[in-house]
Amino acid sequence: MTRGTERDAERDPTGESWWRSAVIYQVYVRSFADSDGDGVGDLPGIRERLPYLAELGVDALWLTPFYPSPMADFGYDVADHRDVDPLFGTLEDARALIKEAHAHDLRIIVDAVPNHTSDRHPWFQAALADPAAPERARYIFREGRGDGPPNDWESVFDGPAWTRVPDGSWYLHLFDPAQPDLDWENPEVREEFEDVLRFWLDLGVDGFRVDVAHGMVKAPGLPDVGFTAQSEKRRHEDAVLPYFDQDGVHEIHRGFRRVLDSYEGDRVAVAEAQAPTLERLAAYTRPDELHQAFNFHYLKAPWSAAALRDVVENSTTPATWVLSNHDVRRHVTRYGGGETGLRRARAAALLTLALPGSAYVYQGEELGLPEADLPEEVQRDPRRKRGDGRDGCRVPMPWEGTEPPFGFTSGRSWLPQPPGWRDLTVEAESADPGSVLNLYRQALRIRRAHPALDLEWLQGPPGTLVFARGTLGCAVNLGDRTARIAAYGPLLLSSEPIDREGDCLVLPPDTAAWWHRH
Ligand code: GLC
Repeated sequence: MTRGTERDAERDPTGESWWRSAVIYQVYVRSFADSDGDGVGDLPGIRERLPYLAELGVDALWLTPFYPSPMADFGYDVADHRDVDPLFGTLEDARALIKEAHAHDLRIIVDAVPNHTSDRHPWFQAALADPAAPERARYIFREGRGDGPPNDWESVFDGPAWTRVPDGSWYLHLFDPAQPDLDWENPEVREEFEDVLRFWLDLGVDGFRVDVAHGMVKAPGLPDVGFTAQSEKRRHEDAVLPYFDQDGVHEIHRGFRRVLDSYEGDRVAVAEAQAPTLERLAAYTRPDELHQAFNFHYLKAPWSAAALRDVVENSTTPATWVLSNHDVRRHVTRYGGGETGLRRARAAALLTLALPGSAYVYQGEELGLPEADLPEEVQRDPRRKRGDGRDGCRVPMPWEGTEPPFGFTSGRSWLPQPPGWRDLTVEAESADPGSVLNLYRQALRIRRAHPALDLEWLQGPPGTLVFARGTLGCAVNLGDRTARIAAYGPLLLSSEPIDREGDCLVLPPDTAAWWHRH
């Protein structure tokens, strides 16, 4: 691939690293494109769709886990970190995909899952088979308290975070019982992981998305949390829990960084870190740690000028902007659903893509897909046990045609697609100049022509956000009244058709516009 080329210089005239201003497209591999008709997306399917992604105008792809896995958590339960699950293809397919993506000038980031393995991982199998096996010390086994588990910790999915094994001891799993937590105090765990990173770097990947980057270190002595129900935990959102965001995780990330830095090219790691405050989140991106951390505070902010301005102002660089991913309800639906949700999502796209920094786009958001409403009997996600399943944002991509499976597969898609998505296929939206897809395509093209790393706030009436990134001006009206905004320069793009009155843009509620600043 052409690294450090003209295209990079065009994107980033300041000479900063590519990832600081990159738009990174998240491919949820299972649901992107199926090449062999088994109803599940795969690596050759992605390869076939690379021209679509190149044309869209993104800079890089993040692929969710495609490693061998029993799929208890759809790939986030890894049984072998150095191979590809037959469902998704072969290692040869991975190699070919990386190479071909690079030929399209698209970088590839893969998922690293260091907090836990699958219970089918050979280490855990050995740990179960013999309490004295060295593998047991790579996980967190403890004796219970009386008949109960060692402490009051609960799984993120449901129920206690401990499961008892036949010899009477308990193992920790912050997620599903099929995802035992590793013990990062054990140097063998660290060595193994750094070696796994090297394996994929050698294969040519440009970096990693580090899963549960806040979870690997547990407070000494594994103290009780003191409150139990997940619902209560939510009310303690600012609390530092004894198993999340412990200070010790940063030493692990420094180790990962050293591995990345030992490779040529600008390899990068992005933390999926849940930190209670933006300040604590910033610690994950100190210069000797990971390069980026997803800004979930931005994702969680309500559709309000004050709330979003607050997050934007308090986010530190290197900034990332994220609206959706495979773990949350799609933002068309979060912002109110229906016509309103879609209008807001279109405006949010212009807001997000104008903010200086790096932006993540979750597959299907460029089509304006809403959360799919799936009947209980087809839901598959382990988190559904908590009444909070994630299947609705993981429904396969609608590519073409007028009925499911909309070109996703020649078989039956693993989750059903709503028949109403016939108007939201890539084919249908490509043909409609006013579609969300064409909005993203235009926005990504214009964004590239206006690179910037700094944000300058401009004057605007209450309920609006008005700012500039370099030569690009952006105004968003999040209020409930039409707003007039001074904009000196030609209009470049708007989320809905809008009027001008002299030097003012007339922005109805829930619209956004970009102009070229003079
Ligand atoms: C991350 C993933 C999520 C997974 C969890 C456990 O939060 O994004 O999908 O369930 O980690 O690995």
